[in-house]
Amino acid sequence: MTTAHIPVITIDGPTASGKGTVAHKVALDLHFHYLDSGALYRLTALSALRKNVDLRDEHAIAKLAEDLPCRFSGEHVFLDQIDVSAAIRAEEVGNTASKIAALPTVRQALYGLQLGFRKAPGLVADGRDMGTVIFPQAQLKVFLTASVEARAERRYKQLIGKGFSANMHDLLKDLTERDARDANRKIAPLKPAEGAHVLDTSAMTADEAVEQVRKWYADLKKHHVV
Ligand code: DC
Repeated sequence: MTTAHIPVITIDGPTASGKGTVAHKVALDLHFHYLDSGALYRLTALSALRKNVDLRDEHAIAKLAEDLPCRFSGEHVFLDQIDVSAAIRAEEVGNTASKIAALPTVRQALYGLQLGFRKAPGLVADGRDMGTVIFPQAQLKVFLTASVEARAERRYKQLIGKGFSANMHDLLKDLTERDARDANRKIAPLKPAEGAHVLDTSAMTADEAVEQVRKWYADLKKHHVV
């Protein structure tokens, strides 16, 4: 059965742009499913790190991605039945995720898994290539961005709040490097999808961004597009 009629809202953007928070809230408000695609790259990275797989061995990493024993339950993520919700948020895992995400066979291995999240009554998909590659026919596409300074500050607060140590100087450097890697890779680079609404959240709260996305979605409903 085709899933083309099931509405999809894609929310793409750089690291720490707030897209996770915004996408999650929009999904809750609309009672839609939620896909945190970054978590799939983080799970693959964590799995590779824990198994000591050589990060240059594209085939071995793609194999991990293809057979990823993961499960999502509310805000929790499990790998091999172990709750890794906090572990996948560590900076080392994020950096490794960004590196392996540049490998074409890894992206291909995660493609089908991501499509499977499109279930009634709808899906909010958060990532880098949700609107460009995975769900190019999405009814609503959003590209969330924010200055690198605003994002570093958010990430700093997030990490400290979760009990990790953090340093602004290192965070700024990491974010800038990760942005460059995500935006300049050959396959599925980070960029706004065709027809995407671009929203700069540097001076916005998460709730204001959620309101804007909901307004765009309500406008589509009003015009019977969804
Ligand atoms: O959104 P995040 O920080 O959890 O994502 C972790 C890494 O995964 C990010 O640096 C790039 C990669 N990623 C990707 O390439 N494509 C996606 N759709 C989501 C994440």
